[in-house]
Amino acid sequence: MKLKILVTAGDGIGPEVTNEAVAILKDIASQGGHDFVFTEKRIGGVAIVQDGTPLPKDTLDAALAADAVLLGAVGGNEFNSLPPDKRPEAGLLAIRAALGGFANLRPAFAFKVLAVNSPLRPEIVDGADVLFVRELLGGLYFGKPREWNKAKGEAWNTMRYTREEVARVARIAFGLAAKRRKRLTSVDKANVLEVSQLWRATVDEVAKEFPGVMVEHQYVDAMAMHLMNRPCDFDVVLTENLFGDILSDESAVITGSLGMLPSATIGGKVNLYEPVHGSAPDIAGKGLANPLGAILTGALVLRHSGGLEAEATAIESSVRKVLEQGFRTPDLARGNTQGITVLSTKEMGAKVRETVKQHLVNA
Ligand code: IPM
Ligand code: MG
Repeated sequence: MKLKILVTAGDGIGPEVTNEAVAILKDIASQGGHDFVFTEKRIGGVAIVQDGTPLPKDTLDAALAADAVLLGAVGGNEFNSLPPDKRPEAGLLAIRAALGGFANLRPAFAFKVLAVNSPLRPEIVDGADVLFVRELLGGLYFGKPREWNKAKGEAWNTMRYTREEVARVARIAFGLAAKRRKRLTSVDKANVLEVSQLWRATVDEVAKEFPGVMVEHQYVDAMAMHLMNRPCDFDVVLTENLFGDILSDESAVITGSLGMLPSATIGGKVNLYEPVHGSAPDIAGKGLANPLGAILTGALVLRHSGGLEAEATAIESSVRKVLEQGFRTPDLARGNTQGITVLSTKEMGAKVRETVKQHLVNA
């Protein structure tokens, strides 16, 4: 299997966590005789500083020529006073738009041994396995008009969707639900917003193509509560861009840490892979970052761009095994610390790497 992977590690903890993911992918390539070619380019704050723009042309060209883009994180406090279109985040939004992936898959899975890390009771989180499908190219993030009119003291953004934009992401979500527990929850605010009414009507249309999948609709405010009260009731959760951004961070409560969540964006020219967490500038460069979200993102690269299901599963089972052996990064070491060994970013990466190697030898 040949795979050209562009690595855009970005800012803050991005480079540290991405390094660990890449090391594992390299091992898997050499062990399985795969030809993975890695290229590195700048994005985000580091690109603003060195190239004067958060998404240099060189990075964009390389991304469009790749089979998969693996991104670390973007953002930093030094850019906080810049307007949205000049910030590191603008580079991320621009690469998302250019690659064209509109379905952002964010699996949130409760590892039994991490239940102690969740503020929710173990019996509530145990067994939770939710797949968020977040629409990534529409809604308030990209809708026009948008402006902060300082003279008027007024600012506006636009939540806009077309029927086609909703239908295409809904089809992906239903398709995934059909292969899972066959339940789809669509999240909107149809009691207030026209755009949500279009969303709901379109989801119901698409639902007819998937008679085997049970569909329900939830308002986003109620959903925020249900997710915490009864996370195990949800299978695939389909949402628009901003609601998905908010609910996927909320789902970190289920897994115990935002550092555990991976994501894959599919449906466009080139798939984009990024952990859900941000650049965490406060802990950057200290070896404190949790690389598991990035490592699990690596598994999604293998699954969705490489078709290497066994290898993707090997990474996921290895992460589970390492956690079961009591190894933790500091974000996961709260609560009961008995039988727990706290590791640095690199040490955690090395543990998973070792475990994946053994797993593939034994397979
Ligand atoms: C995410 C992040 C991004 C988003 C930011 C960094 C632009 O929060 O991927 O969830 O809002 O999409
Ligand atoms: Mg977010």
